[in-house]
Amino acid sequence: MKGIILHGGHGTRLRPLTHTGPKQLLPIANKPMSQYCVESIKNVGIDEIAIIIGGIGADKVKEYYGTGEDFGVKFTYISQDYPKGIAHAIQLCEDFVDNKKFLVFLGDNIIQKNIEQIGKKFEYSDADASILLCEVDNPSRFGIADVKDGQILKIMEKPKEPPTNLAVTGIYFLTPKIFEIIKRVKPSWRNELEITDALQMLLEEGNKITYDIITDYWKDTGTPEDIINANKEILKNMKSSNKGKKEENVSINGNVIIGSGTIIKKNCQIIGPVIIGNNCILEENASIGPNASIGNNTKIAKSHIADSIIMENCEIMTDIKIKNSIISANSKIFQAENEEKILLLGEGTNIKI
Ligand code: DAU
Repeated sequence: MKGIILHGGHGTRLRPLTHTGPKQLLPIANKPMSQYCVESIKNVGIDEIAIIIGGIGADKVKEYYGTGEDFGVKFTYISQDYPKGIAHAIQLCEDFVDNKKFLVFLGDNIIQKNIEQIGKKFEYSDADASILLCEVDNPSRFGIADVKDGQILKIMEKPKEPPTNLAVTGIYFLTPKIFEIIKRVKPSWRNELEITDALQMLLEEGNKITYDIITDYWKDTGTPEDIINANKEILKNMKSSNKGKKEENVSINGNVIIGSGTIIKKNCQIIGPVIIGNNCILEENASIGPNASIGNNTKIAKSHIADSIIMENCEIMTDIKIKNSIISANSKIFQAENEEKILLLGEGTNIKI
């Protein structure tokens, strides 16, 4: 089988975080979210992966993933000129797929479950497609499957009155049969070629679509709240390690990962789960956690940071409590002197103090 990761789109719901790069490169527990897709695809035994790129910062994707050598796979980059839909992106991969079965992963979908067994089952089955479903509280935000007695009756995109709460996750096992179908799919109300419409046509034309229901964690990281939640979930399962240095009277509880070159100064408090990257400095009395990810080369003093993602090269040097927040790379928060306040906030910044 081959693999495809969708890394295009505009990421509008995550602005301003996505003004300078694709949302799928936003870090969760200090790793781009799409890297979790690479790992899930690799678990199925697939080592040839096409990455669909397009939109702002597409070059950053190539820069990060390169040939794939560092990740133990081979990447092929396929450009999508405009995000015309998931089915459109898949269509662009017809030559790459080379008449084999394949696995598509939306680059903003994260799962905890190892899908190796599901992948193997599909590889040797006669199904024309197989999808993963997951129960959700807000079904009108997703593709939905109507299911009865182990059979899929209908697949629809973001229905106003969902017949079930079974979301179609962004993980699709497909056969080359889908390409002929996509050629006949018409643009939807959001002017996209929907994969759910292609799957529905596949079903209507008498083809076999199987499904599995995942009960482990699955998240479409479409909103900042989703990202903070995914960060918490991934951190929960990480094992402690310390490659840094800590001074006396530092209190560390729970699962805490500290990168190399990082210095934790006197009287700091860390409550896991927490990850702190390489070459960070935690000045005296800083308090981190729970559920916090701190990127490489970040410096923190005095503040208390919980349930948040602070990306790399940041400086947070004032007595401030940061909770449920995402702070982009290279940001600085300092104490103003002499009543002088200078704020530089990027377009679309959202802060509550
Ligand atoms: O996450 C699961 C949901 O994903 C499914 O339940 C829906 O059926 C499916 O349509 C999709 O819904 P979204 O509205 O969340 O899709 P979104 O536009 O966010 O795109 C999903 C990913 O695919 C995202 O990483 C961007 C990428 N993409 C999207 C489009 C439309 C592309 O690379 N190219 C595209 O043309």
